Amino acid sequence: MERYSKEQEEWDRFIRDSIGQNAVLVSVSKFSSDCRVYRVNDSIFKIRRFTPSSMRGRNNSFEDECLVMRQLSAVTGTPAVRGYKRMDRWEQLELELLPELHGYDPTFGMPHETFKDFWSVIAVTLQINRLGCSHGDLHWRNVGRNVKGGISVFDFDQACLASPWRCVMRDLFGFGTCERRSEFSLFNRLRYVQGVGVLLRAMVRLTKDVLAFLSRPHSSSLQRSRFAKSTFMQRVMLQEDLALKTLAEAWSIAARSKASAPDTDIAYYSIDIGGINFPGERPWILRWERIRKNLDFKGKRLLELGCNMGLLSIHAKLSGAAFCLGVDTDKDILLAANLASRAFGTNVEHRPVDLGDSFRWEEELNGFDIVSALSVLHWIEDKERVWSFISKHKEVLYEGHESEQEAEDNLRKAGFIHIVPLGTTERNRQMFYASRM
Ligand SMILES: C[S@@+](CC[C@H](N)C(=O)[O-])C[C@H]1O[C@@H](n2cnc3c(N)ncnc32)[C@H](O)[C@@H]1O
Repeated sequence: MERYSKEQEEWDRFIRDSIGQNAVLVSVSKFSSDCRVYRVNDSIFKIRRFTPSSMRGRNNSFEDECLVMRQLSAVTGTPAVRGYKRMDRWEQLELELLPELHGYDPTFGMPHETFKDFWSVIAVTLQINRLGCSHGDLHWRNVGRNVKGGISVFDFDQACLASPWRCVMRDLFGFGTCERRSEFSLFNRLRYVQGVGVLLRAMVRLTKDVLAFLSRPHSSSLQRSRFAKSTFMQRVMLQEDLALKTLAEAWSIAARSKASAPDTDIAYYSIDIGGINFPGERPWILRWERIRKNLDFKGKRLLELGCNMGLLSIHAKLSGAAFCLGVDTDKDILLAANLASRAFGTNVEHRPVDLGDSFRWEEELNGFDIVSALSVLHWIEDKERVWSFISKHKEVLYEGHESEQEAEDNLRKAGFIHIVPLGTTERNRQMFYASRM
């Protein structure tokens, strides 16, 4: 799919020309990979290429965000605005990198927040509210503990200006103001506080189960028709492009498969092509950026364990890999992977393999230069067996659910000498490239 490669090249060119080669991709919106955040020295750059998916009404324009943030210059813990630029089909907002966030603890805010931290988030939020601004998305990812022990709040793309009491209501309880509700209020943040969290999460689960029970029947045909009505499907259908239609079919199979989020109809990764967002739980581009900067696939043979939709194999092929094979236990996801590979014009092969099976799959899967085991070992009981298989390869791409140190130890035990951390994923897990050389 030529347009996809062209769009990625356009991004590379824009970044190189506007903020420089050394820019580090920090995050990508899962709703549009045309909204990205980069870091250069002590600046953060939010960059958007205007496309239908990147302009869909969820977020403020960066110009609005800039206006809102200028009101907050007196609040410690919110980043200062350094500039806003609009260039043809692009906009760019430059912010100060909060210096104290160098000591940012990435686990903060995940489901073990302390009461003390929670109160500190409230205190900063109230300061912002007093100035007539509501943050509107107090998700744990948008708040960090700084090295001095204080709290910093960032990412104001859902923020709005209103009277102080309306701001408090929006940030505390998520009540609507500024035309829309808060995406994530302090009230639902309570779920992550130790003790309270366990109770609230149990209540939320129970309510969800009761609602799911009451809204039966939940047939897959019903889910399919809901998917067919989604804006993303409608936009694809308007295009006279067979590759996009094939990709949309792949995405709809992946969304329903058990290999993606089993409780919701959504694929594992989101990507954007031609301004259409193929929806997923997490942005593919962020992961690929870290891999492509550190690995050379040219002329190599890649084996992707637990491949899901096989996006890694597709991108490796697009970057010159000689041969790619994806294996997964889920037959539906392999059907989606086959369609996706066809849509991209890559001829990735796929095979159903259960890595936990007593069948000697190791004997069939040989002759590969790189093996990838991204977020797959966690689901397999006999991890030693898979590690022993991995250890027979020269290069490995690895992401586990264990701590960073344990992952590194496991790679060393498997005989890898050169171990490179590629960066944390959106779930705060480190990805590694390791080789024997
Ligand atoms: C969390 S997803 C990771 C997808 C992909 N590796 C990535 O990180 O981009 C885990 C994948 O492993 C597959 N999987 C789980 N258990 C497996 C098993 N026993 N054998 C092969 N694949 C398995 C699932 O079907 C799913 O597609």
